[in-house]
Amino acid sequence: MTSATPPDASGVRVRPMRVADLDAVMPFEQQMFGPEAWSRQGYLDELADTELRYYIVAEAADHHLLGTAGLLTIGETAQILTIGVLPAARRNGVGRLLLRALIAEARRRRATEVLLEVREDNHAAQRLYAAEGFTVLGKRRGYYEQGRVDAITMRHPIQRHPIQGQQPQRQQPQRQQPQRQQPQRQQPQGHQVQRQSQSQNQESRQP
Ligand SMILES: CC(C)(COP(=O)(O)OP(=O)(O)OC[C@H]1O[C@@H](n2cnc3c(N)ncnc32)[C@H](O)[C@@H]1OP(=O)(O)O)[C@@H](O)C(=O)NCCC(=O)NCCS
Repeated sequence: MTSATPPDASGVRVRPMRVADLDAVMPFEQQMFGPEAWSRQGYLDELADTELRYYIVAEAADHHLLGTAGLLTIGETAQILTIGVLPAARRNGVGRLLLRALIAEARRRRATEVLLEVREDNHAAQRLYAAEGFTVLGKRRGYYEQGRVDAITMRHPIQRHPIQGQQPQRQQPQRQQPQRQQPQRQQPQGHQVQRQSQSQNQESRQP
C-alpha cells in the first residue's frame, strides 16, 4: 500500500504515516505502549527511512487517529515493528485492518514471510496474530523488561502470487527457508527500534 486504502464500512481507512501525524500520535504513545513508548525523535528517525520501513495510521472518517503500525522489510523477511490501537477504539477491527495492511505491504515488497515478537503476557495481541494466520515459532527468553518477560516469536508465510512474476506454486522447486535472523540487527544505522524494554529502547534511541 503506497497510498490510502478506501474507507471500510465504518469509514475507517489506513494510510501512510506522515511527520505531521506525530502531533496526534505522541499523546497516545505512552497510553498504548507504557514503558515501551517511543520518543518523537525515534519516530522521526523511523519515518525518514522510507526504503526499508513502512509506517501507517488508521483514522476515522473524521480523521481522528485510531491506531498506528510499522513494518521493516529486508530482503525476503518483513518484521512487524509496532502495532497499536487507541484504547477507546479497540475491539472494532482496527488492529486487524492495520495488520492486514502491513502484510499486504510486505507482499508488495516481495517478502516471503512476516515475523514478529510479542510479549508472552499479551494475550490480546497473540489472539489477533493467530487469527490472522501467524503461528508460533518459539520463545525469546528475557526479551522484555530487562530479562523479566519472555517474547513469543511468530511467523506468517507469504505465498507469492503468479501475478508478481513468480512461477506458479506447483512449478517451483522447493523454496529455501529464508535465514532466520533479526532484520533490525542488520541496520547500518545501528538503531534497534522494535518494541522492547525501556532500557533497550533508551540504549538504541538515546546513544
Ligand atoms: C493488540 C491490539 C493492537 C488489538 O487491536 P484491536 O483493534 O482491539 O483488535 P481487533 O478489534 O482488530 O481484534 C481482532 C481480533 O484480535 C483478537 N483480540 C483483539 N483484542 C483482544 C482481546 N482484548 N482479547 C481477546 N482477543 C482479542 C480477537 O480475535 C479479535 O477478533 P474479534 O473481535 O472478532 O473477536 C490492541 O489491543 C492494542 O493496541 N494493544 C496495546 C498495544 C499492543 O499490545 N500492541 C501489540 C504489540 S506486539
